[in-house]
Amino acid sequence: MEIIKSVANLLEIAMRERAAGKTIGMVPTMGALHEGHLSLIRRAHEENDVVFCSIFVNPVQFNNAEDLEKYPRTLEADVQLIGNFADYVFAPSVEEIFPVAPTEVYDFGSVANVMEGAARPGHFNGVGVIVRRLLEWVRPHKAYFGEKDYQQIAVIREMCLQCRILSEIVPCPIIREPNGLAMSSRNRRLSEHEFETAANIHRILEASKECKNAFEIKQFVESEIAKIPEFQLDYFELADAETLQTTDDLNNPHGVMGFITVYVGPVRLIDNVRY
Ligand code: PAF
Repeated sequence: MEIIKSVANLLEIAMRERAAGKTIGMVPTMGALHEGHLSLIRRAHEENDVVFCSIFVNPVQFNNAEDLEKYPRTLEADVQLIGNFADYVFAPSVEEIFPVAPTEVYDFGSVANVMEGAARPGHFNGVGVIVRRLLEWVRPHKAYFGEKDYQQIAVIREMCLQCRILSEIVPCPIIREPNGLAMSSRNRRLSEHEFETAANIHRILEASKECKNAFEIKQFVESEIAKIPEFQLDYFELADAETLQTTDDLNNPHGVMGFITVYVGPVRLIDNVRY
């Protein structure tokens, strides 16, 4: 595996691999890798001739300075974990990606304005800024993203449509800790007690599948979350699995999902469930 630091080098290598007729898979990450990321990288390795993994804590998608500052940065350990499942790890500096501050302003439409888009103004614009650059530089045949960030996948698909990016966006299932907590780089910031308590998020979502209608589901999830003193609910929404717009109709033809964001102490965790 080769570590790439500059965009010029990335462009040259990606072009060379494409010219050699190789199929290219890409896994964009912000590092602090865990089994969830590794499942994407392994899948990319299985499905493509060559795999690029990027590790870049993208400052423009953080709307909270403390979150950006505390985001774990563990490049050496990440590279060890990736091993030979990726051929190239692109790990640039902030200056390399943003020689000047980016000014792009996107309108990703209704999928981007709800839930995470409403709770974190500017977040999806920042995701669009970085993912567009990465996909345009590498031009992978397939790019892999985890379904914990389900809404992010919808936004990235919209970005690809608007920016004429032809890479196939491959959604991959959430990988969970043995206690059920969705794997996330942010879990490292939880104390042992918070880590165990946070497992209740998934337990409550799973239990809510027993409810008979949307009203019951919302009441159940909100009241169960409120019983746990370490939790502060940011939002729980029932939404159409495709349009991501709120729905109360569990028979919605696209399917219905529950999307939750909970603060456990200062750590913001997200998860989702399909009904
Ligand atoms: O999901 C993430 O880790 C990030 O949002 C991504 C897609 C790597 C863009 O910085």
